[in-house]
Amino acid sequence: SEGSLKKAYQDKFYIGTAMNLEQINGTDKKSVEIIKKQFSSIVAENCMKSMYLQPQEGQFFFKDADKFVEFGEKNKMFIIGHTLIWHSQAPDWFFVDKDGKNVSPEVLKQRMKNHITTIVSRYKRRVKGWDVVNEAILEDGSYRKSKFYEILGEEFIPLAFKYAQEADPNAELYYNDYNEWHPGKVKRVTMLVKDLKSKGIRIDGVGMQAHIGMDTPSIDEYEKAILAYAESGVKVNITELDISALPSPWGTSANIADKVAYDEKMNPYKKGLPKEVQTQWENRYEDFFSLFLKHKDNIRRVTLWGVSDNQSWKNDFPIKGRTDYPLLFDRQFKAKPIVRKLIKLV
Ligand code: XIL
Repeated sequence: SEGSLKKAYQDKFYIGTAMNLEQINGTDKKSVEIIKKQFSSIVAENCMKSMYLQPQEGQFFFKDADKFVEFGEKNKMFIIGHTLIWHSQAPDWFFVDKDGKNVSPEVLKQRMKNHITTIVSRYKRRVKGWDVVNEAILEDGSYRKSKFYEILGEEFIPLAFKYAQEADPNAELYYNDYNEWHPGKVKRVTMLVKDLKSKGIRIDGVGMQAHIGMDTPSIDEYEKAILAYAESGVKVNITELDISALPSPWGTSANIADKVAYDEKMNPYKKGLPKEVQTQWENRYEDFFSLFLKHKDNIRRVTLWGVSDNQSWKNDFPIKGRTDYPLLFDRQFKAKPIVRKLIKLV
């Protein structure tokens, strides 16, 4: 048989995917088939974010998340909850009182505690790991000036971990972030890990999102970050892996007047990926998986941020309406040649 990713990597680390609503509801049958065959771990792409789980204060919506967890249990998967405390995709009510003014630190703590406790308890022993805090630290190592930070200061992070630990003492707890290889961020996150540990608060892993491009980061930069996180005393999770095949839009002017010229520059592969770019892209996946295998003892899980290219958020981020090729399955839900190559790499 052709084998599968999850079998090939079973003695190394979990191989996961994010699931969107069509997959969770089972209407996207082709993806569901791929997920069952190829992956040993799942995470919800959106439906466990705070704006969906608690759209109004005290009014929880669990239908989609329940289905997601049931799917994972039925298929014996390592189920990940994403994400408890994040400034983005959070409902406005969380941070303000009825007059629209910031709530007091005490009220925000209470809301965090209620949110975390309600969700983590509901899925106790079923969801095996939680992205407790997402994207709280910037590349230069400073704290993001989110509402959580504005109202509670640095305190909000240990508090979130403490509430999660109390609600399910057996669940693994992670800090998750992007551009997770920037030296300033690595430094601050490793300090955070050590600080939590010295306070006796549980933290099991750092989640490296791994939304990466064709040129950055370098394998060397990435390896340094993996080693630094491991040395701080936690496992590394690769949590949202995708490799964009498109030119990086960061640092380019979004203001090119000529729309056609702009499209040619930033959205050049509408009709398909040229052979040489595809080869480069495959090499990049292989280089990263070789790195993950090299550090398998420190890596708990490698999760892709979706199944097929047509469903990837990268088609709309950070520029809308591009045609990207970041995932392992093509727009016809066919395994790309890279799948075989990654299986053979083990
Ligand atoms: C993205 C989803 O993929 C999109 O569907 C949604 O519109 C926005 O969020 N970092 C994270 C993920 O932690 O939750 C984000 O997911 C991608 C960036």
